[in-house]
Amino acid sequence: MINAKITGVGGYVPEKVYDNAYMESIVDTSDEWIIRRTGVKERHISDDNEYTSDMAIKASQIALENSGLKAEELDLIILATVTPDYFTPACACLVQKALGAVNAAAFDYNAACSAFVTGLTIAKQFIAAGTYKNVLVVCADTLSKATDYADRATCVLFGDAAGAAVVSATEENGIMETELGSDGDLAITALAYRNSDEENEKRVSKRKETIWMAGQAVMKFAVKAMADASLRVLEKSGLSWDDITLVIPHQANYRIVDSAIKRMGITEDKVFLTLEKYGNTSASCIPVALSEAVAEGRIKKGDKIILVGFGGGLTWGAALLEW
Ligand code: ACO
Repeated sequence: MINAKITGVGGYVPEKVYDNAYMESIVDTSDEWIIRRTGVKERHISDDNEYTSDMAIKASQIALENSGLKAEELDLIILATVTPDYFTPACACLVQKALGAVNAAAFDYNAACSAFVTGLTIAKQFIAAGTYKNVLVVCADTLSKATDYADRATCVLFGDAAGAAVVSATEENGIMETELGSDGDLAITALAYRNSDEENEKRVSKRKETIWMAGQAVMKFAVKAMADASLRVLEKSGLSWDDITLVIPHQANYRIVDSAIKRMGITEDKVFLTLEKYGNTSASCIPVALSEAVAEGRIKKGDKIILVGFGGGLTWGAALLEW
């Protein structure tokens, strides 16, 4: 049996910061409200001429370096984004070119904030089938470019970031179990070619390409989806919460994480959060947090961890890994 394991991980956040004082200066909000209702203190924001692929390349270079692999050894690059530089070429192709990954196929995919877990699942399948040995999974989003900065209910939540992981064939345990789900729903939308007066009307700015969501409905869905998906991968593996050293959830809102972990029956000391510093950076939340948890020594070889996310689609997913 060929297994798939993360051999290197990397994260990148842009330099510019919008703190809560800045958010107070652009919409009718307060530092107190944002912290109490979301847990976010700061978000990192790309420059006007800094795009998703620029951040993706930086995170990928770090992941590659940490894995010890050469770019030519990559067989496949998959990149998840909801804010691509172009409709074509795929951002994955821009990363392929910049890395010099001359032997890699490349494509983009979209599973919104659940995309890192989705990407690990795709990588595991290609590796288990014997098709590829080394797959780079990248998540990158410049959500700030799709944020309605006139809408106080969404603009305080989002930031920009990129995260990447090299997944390689191994005989060791690695990505042990994954669980994915979807429920096509318009609770979170940002429109491309489709025109809809109804969608325009929902937005303060009336700009259809900005992100709108039914905040309370998404919160309810997220708590159940993250708890259920985590329990499902535990069940499939035959392990219990005592075997799990760390959980890295999607970092959308502290209240969602808090309610989800109560439902899972675990305490916050098992959970790694970057929410306060970066806000919701879409699919990048999990790999950026993973990269920081590894750098801080919170994850050691042999540890079993759970990554769990939810997002637009609606989608959800969890992965149980042995590090
Ligand atoms: N500052 C001050 N007041 C605010 C703000 C703000 N930034 N935002 C909303 N309010 C107000 C509302 O207008 C409302 O006022 P009203 O009672 O006078 O009408 C009041 O606060 C309560 O609003 P709610 O929407 O009920 O607030 P809630 O507690 O649900 O928090 C939030 C809103 C933070 C958006 C929450 O619903 C949430 O986090 N939802 C989930 C979002 C999410 O996880 N999305 C993930 C996917 S995004 C993606 O995939 C890219």
